[in-house]
Amino acid sequence: MQKILVVDDAEINRELLREFLEVDYIVETAENGGQALAVLRAQHGEISALLLDLHMPHTDGFAVIEQMRKQGWMESIPVLIISSEHAVEAENKCFELGVSDFIHRPFVDSIVKNRVRNTIELFNCKNQLERKIEKQSETLRRQEQIIKIQAEQLSTAESFNRLMMEYRSVIMEVETRLKVLNAMFSEQYKRNPFESIKSRLKKPESIYKKLVRKDCPVTVENIKEHIADVAGLRVICSFPDDIYRLEKLLLKQDDIILLKKKDYIKNPKSNGYRSLHLILSVPVFLPDEKKYMKAEVQFRTIAMDFWGSLEHKLKYKKNINNTEEIERQLKACADSIEALDYQMQKIRDKIDQSEGECL
Ligand code: GTP
Ligand code: MG
Repeated sequence: MQKILVVDDAEINRELLREFLEVDYIVETAENGGQALAVLRAQHGEISALLLDLHMPHTDGFAVIEQMRKQGWMESIPVLIISSEHAVEAENKCFELGVSDFIHRPFVDSIVKNRVRNTIELFNCKNQLERKIEKQSETLRRQEQIIKIQAEQLSTAESFNRLMMEYRSVIMEVETRLKVLNAMFSEQYKRNPFESIKSRLKKPESIYKKLVRKDCPVTVENIKEHIADVAGLRVICSFPDDIYRLEKLLLKQDDIILLKKKDYIKNPKSNGYRSLHLILSVPVFLPDEKKYMKAEVQFRTIAMDFWGSLEHKLKYKKNINNTEEIERQLKACADSIEALDYQMQKIRDKIDQSEGECL
């Protein structure tokens, strides 16, 4: 049986509560705060709930709570206050101090039993949940540490570094091909089809995590086989039609192989994300061989890129308030951006046409 401590200076209250509760619990009593603290000091690990009167001579209920907070006992023992009045201010103060519930006089047998039982159950559930969360967080922290250490080990392996050098080369290769197209295009049409190119080599830690997520052992072969975005390029264009023009020109090159295409411009993601993604296999001429390497090329307009960077922040930042509202606003922005991109494109066409008429 669980043990309950009833603390009240009025004998009648102690005895009534004992009578109601001793059917289901072992009931200990104390007639003042000092006695209560002595019992808690000796048995705090065994007490399942404390029923506490606030108004007692010398050490009153508030002083008992204060001591319990200091000792950390409030985390393991739920406190129910025995009270004869419904004083809002005093009750709120008790809740702020961590009290679980109130038992009001005159006592009603069934209410007392239900309140005590519910409080103990709820308190145990809450504690179990907290322990579970703490355990899971600890496991996650440990996993993160292991991943970090193993990723560091990976980055010192010679075969891994050789592979990274090859991916760096494919970035340079694709970047050069795009820059050549840009130069030729601007010569012909007097404007640049893209504004800028950003590139990045995936970090060892992200490579490691992605393989683990895909349930693949971390090997150089599996990186080549299962990760398509170790070499990543982002091409930022002014107008949507430039994106498709560039795609066509790039894919026309007879040694580039298109492995996968995801057109999030024609089929945007539900969050509003728009970009054209190509997974390419591109030959790289190394000192002793010609090797096909994978690269992920993302094409977007300036506005889509602006949106993508902000939305990315939302995904990777923890503890953001009001996420749903922000997601809704981002989706609305994405739709406005689409309308704006095409409107700008139309204006550009009109300007281009008038230039033609002038000449
Ligand atoms: P990853 O495993 O993340 O590479 O995704 P995936 O294999 O499903 O490919 P997908 O083409 O959907 O996404 C590739 C990359 O595009 C991501 O790594 C991001 O850089 C970018 N991306 C995709 N979806 C979103 C999105 O909803 N928001 C933002 N900001 N970026 C996205
Ligand atoms: Mg990716």
